[in-house]
Amino acid sequence: MNKKIAVLAGDGIGTEIMAEALKVLRKIEEIFGHKFEYVEGLIGGSAWEKYGEHFPEETVSVSENTDAILFGSVGGPVDKQMEPKWKNCETNSILAIRKHFNFNVNLRPVKLYSALKDACVLRSDIVDKGIDMLCVRELSQDVYFGKHEMSGEVGMRHAFDEMSYDEKVIEAIAHAAFKAAQVRKKKVTSVDKANVLNCSKLWREAVTNVAKNYPDCVLEHVLVDNMSMQVLKRPGDFDVILMPNMFGDIISDEVSVFAGSLGMLPSASLNERGFGLYEPSSGSAPDIAGKGIANPIGQILSAAMMLKFSFGMTEEHDAILNAVEKTLAEGLRTGDIADGGKAVSTSEMGNKIVENLRGGKI
Ligand code: IPM
Ligand code: MG
Repeated sequence: MNKKIAVLAGDGIGTEIMAEALKVLRKIEEIFGHKFEYVEGLIGGSAWEKYGEHFPEETVSVSENTDAILFGSVGGPVDKQMEPKWKNCETNSILAIRKHFNFNVNLRPVKLYSALKDACVLRSDIVDKGIDMLCVRELSQDVYFGKHEMSGEVGMRHAFDEMSYDEKVIEAIAHAAFKAAQVRKKKVTSVDKANVLNCSKLWREAVTNVAKNYPDCVLEHVLVDNMSMQVLKRPGDFDVILMPNMFGDIISDEVSVFAGSLGMLPSASLNERGFGLYEPSSGSAPDIAGKGIANPIGQILSAAMMLKFSFGMTEEHDAILNAVEKTLAEGLRTGDIADGGKAVSTSEMGNKIVENLRGGKI
């Protein structure tokens, strides 16, 4: 199969972990006889340096003319947020690209590989029950894309952020969650704050209505504050977790620690046409950028998700997951999952995963 991929590595560790994902994709091409064309584009702080903007027209056009977008990470150091290069960088790049393509479905699978049980912060009796959940986060509305205002004089200022949801948008993400649940454990936990927010009341009603189309699945509603606790106490009870944009941002970070490290987690953002952007959940991690120590697995697994969701290559996707699992089982660890033990570099981890892909079709 011939496919064209937009490669937007971005800032911080983005370029380092992207290099490993590309090694894996090249190996996939070789093993399975595909031809991928990689078209690079600048985004975030790195784009600002060349174009004076975070999501320049050239990157928009690169992204529009490909079959999928493989994204690294954007953003700068916390203490440099006021510098023009980094000011509003995330809003102007990742939020802008989500809006541009109207990515409404965000999938964040959280799986604890058995080899990483010791890296998980939870008690072993909880971990032993297994952790394998899918966060389905609505990505196109909520307080993220409402009006944002700040007015008044210092000392008397007023801030305003508008939260809104359309029923149709909630229905669309609910369908995505139930479809995902049908090929998993057939359980959807919908998260809201329906005891306070109108957006959540609408959310709950719309999700309940959509559930009627999926009689094979179980639906439960949990308030977000309660969910943040329940998911820690009994993570093994959750399968698909359906969330509005803001709660999904928060809870998906919380559950990411179950996988041993944020660096393990991939994600997919899809629009109604099925076009997708794939990015790790780890962020640009400027504190460790350039040191060659970042964990590339989240980026590699994001590439795997791209193969499956955008190109329909399930065998190739599974081959990458197996290679990652094998590499972890062999004991390779980057610093974030080494638990104080011996850590390998970003490229050593990537090389080993590529090596474990050898052997070809499985
Ligand atoms: C995420 C990130 C973004 C978000 C930031 C970088 C704007 O935290 O993808 O989860 O809040 O959506
Ligand atoms: Mg987040």
